Amino acid sequence: MELFFERTFNHNNHRLFFAPGRINLIGEHTDYNGGHVFPCAITYGTYALVSKRNDTSVRLYSMNFPEEGLIEFNLDNLQYDINHSWANYAKGMISYLKQAGYKIENGLDILIYGNIPNGAGLSSSASIELVIGIAIEKLFNLDINRIEIVKIGKQVENHFIGVNSGIMDQFAIGMGRKDFGMLLNCQTLTCEYAPIQLHQHDIVIMNTNKRRTLADSKYNERKRECEEALEILKKVIDISSLGELTEDSLKSLKNYLPNEVIQKRVQHVVSENARTLKALRALKANDLYEFGQLMDASHCSLRDDYEVTGRELDTLVETAWNQKGVIGARMTGAGFGGCAIAIVEKNQVSEFINEVKESYKEKIGYEATFYVANIGDGAREITEEEDQWVF
Ligand code: GLA
Repeated sequence: MELFFERTFNHNNHRLFFAPGRINLIGEHTDYNGGHVFPCAITYGTYALVSKRNDTSVRLYSMNFPEEGLIEFNLDNLQYDINHSWANYAKGMISYLKQAGYKIENGLDILIYGNIPNGAGLSSSASIELVIGIAIEKLFNLDINRIEIVKIGKQVENHFIGVNSGIMDQFAIGMGRKDFGMLLNCQTLTCEYAPIQLHQHDIVIMNTNKRRTLADSKYNERKRECEEALEILKKVIDISSLGELTEDSLKSLKNYLPNEVIQKRVQHVVSENARTLKALRALKANDLYEFGQLMDASHCSLRDDYEVTGRELDTLVETAWNQKGVIGARMTGAGFGGCAIAIVEKNQVSEFINEVKESYKEKIGYEATFYVANIGDGAREITEEEDQWVF
């Protein structure tokens, strides 16, 4: 990467930053409903070599998108530009940090390399936002509160890119800790770190290889359906988010909702929120079996009530459920393609992968890809010491 930087920008004066991707263990489509999520950062992520320039040009190159070539814009013109493809995430961060009052008066040379499969639902976009956010923080000595960078990342996603996503991805990526999951209350942003002790088990990530972007998925449609339900329920009870409803209270409120589809959406949000809290309790009590059951139930609810899974994710997950040594499996992230996760006994992992791979190929017609997930730290500058084992 360093040689590549030198060849691209004709100097080698840079610093190295990293932001991870994330998986969500449980608590799906609850974040923008003021509920709980339970994600963790993974060791796959986005690296950025960055240096400050003496003028106001920003030049960016991604080793993952060589076909896009060197992308260039100026600090004076930070409008979204469709031709700037992936670099809009970086541009959005610069623009919104400036709008928040941070002084960014020099341009930048930025080389990106990411090892998160793109479009797989492991938050490669939030990872770019956060890596740029912390690079700017450090290079301009801005000392920005981490939660503020997280919130600015979400603003970029919502208003610059146009995806109405919640806070989960940026939070997990900005605040992750090695070997810990985070139970985040998305209404208050209070977070409890819980050690992920899976003993003789690994978390296996299963990528459907069905590509999608949130912008072209039904993500915004689901969000609108939830907003519609909330507006109606607000007239009946005093709530500010669907996350405040309990499974019991929903029973008597369901009839106020206009149709079965909206009822199912709310049913998912409320039951998933309850499952997420139960899952943390199960993990703390060392009850992996119960944790796995909750994961399975989460997938069923996302498939039947929220309807965001699809044939590819269902095939992966349902095949995973039937394998030896599997504690639980579910889709992770937004759905509509992307990835699923399974908790699998370590000594069964290779057999598990072979079996699921074969069955998926037979049913879907192309291959799924598998990775064992390691839970890593959140976004940071990579010091020379850490650099030695990263590269
Ligand atoms: C995407 C969004 C998150 C969250 C999940 C679904 O990853 O970016 O904010 O809504 O989908 O849980």
